[in-house]
Amino acid sequence: MTTRKDWDFLSENDVTPEEVFKNRRRLIQAFGAGSVAGPLSAVKAAMQGSAAVVAGLSAVACGAKPAGGRGSTQLSELPALPATRNTQWSNTEPPTDSKLVTTYNNFYEFGTDKSDPSRNADTLQTRPWKVLVEGECNKPGEFDLDDLLKLAPMEERIYSLRCVEAWSVVVPWIGYPLAALLKKVEPGSKAKYVSFETLADPRQMPGLSSSVLDWPYVEGLRMDEAMHPLALLTFGQYGKVLPNQAGAPVRLVVPWKYGFKSAKSLVRIRLTDKQPPTSWNKSAPQEYGFYSNVNPGVNHPRWSQGSERRLGEGSFGGLFAPRRDTKLFNGYEAVAPLYQGMDLRKFF
Ligand code: MTE
Repeated sequence: MTTRKDWDFLSENDVTPEEVFKNRRRLIQAFGAGSVAGPLSAVKAAMQGSAAVVAGLSAVACGAKPAGGRGSTQLSELPALPATRNTQWSNTEPPTDSKLVTTYNNFYEFGTDKSDPSRNADTLQTRPWKVLVEGECNKPGEFDLDDLLKLAPMEERIYSLRCVEAWSVVVPWIGYPLAALLKKVEPGSKAKYVSFETLADPRQMPGLSSSVLDWPYVEGLRMDEAMHPLALLTFGQYGKVLPNQAGAPVRLVVPWKYGFKSAKSLVRIRLTDKQPPTSWNKSAPQEYGFYSNVNPGVNHPRWSQGSERRLGEGSFGGLFAPRRDTKLFNGYEAVAPLYQGMDLRKFF
């Protein structure tokens, strides 16, 4: 039986990954606040989360770079990335306002508050850029970004992205199936999983000075998940190349899984015979599983996953977006056969 935690009084939209709580708790403990640190740090985290939303929204309202930082490149300043809309795999819902999507981000390498990536990620050098693809395959190789951009036709896909923190956005992404790249290296029969590693350069990424996660940020998929046509190797959004805060120059988007599976700024992809370690699972295994499929039937230990807030909906620019039901696999029923016969409570 679970006991009531200090943070149970927080509303669901105030959730913050436990490591952020822990990190702040460690800091407060270091300053001698001891036993009151838990709830205080939770409240502080919650307040900062709301402040980040407000900061992001005021930047939207003013059309300005968020105050207090150098400011990342805005979509309007970025080159266009032409693509053909793929209607088969696109949602029909309207995309979320791009200004909101580009100022409310999770990219802990640039800080843990939602407005940090858009304020800090201008230090990210996205050229030259190479992605190493190696492991259990016949043709491993290092792919230059220019080669990756030409490897398959660019498609625009409108996907919803559901964060484990119970907020979601709808984004027109640009990319092509991850399967196109994996096929190029000719996976061997031992390739059962794919691991993803993202850039970890302290000279470019101020967030690496924090121990909130073990760097580099790593993620993983089962081979059949990685080969599913919905898994997108992504280079752009809203008709433009990715802004740095969105994971430039190349990231994953895996729309039926919680957002943290969609690793940003990829540098290495490895085919393996063993299930690879993943950052959030290493950090809090009881809270974040390897699979992390969106599932309203499996709650996070500290909050419900039954509903979510779609940023931008409702009044006040979406700050108080009404809750909407969360769907199994984020509504992407096409992936259900991947999990036939599996107990999704056990493999969460
Ligand atoms: N990738 C890296 N390298 N570092 C991160 O902190 N955060 C993840 C994911 N990819 C993260 C990452 C999380 S928690 C989410 S919800 C999505 O990116 C957010 O993507 P967005 O900022 O484009 O909405």
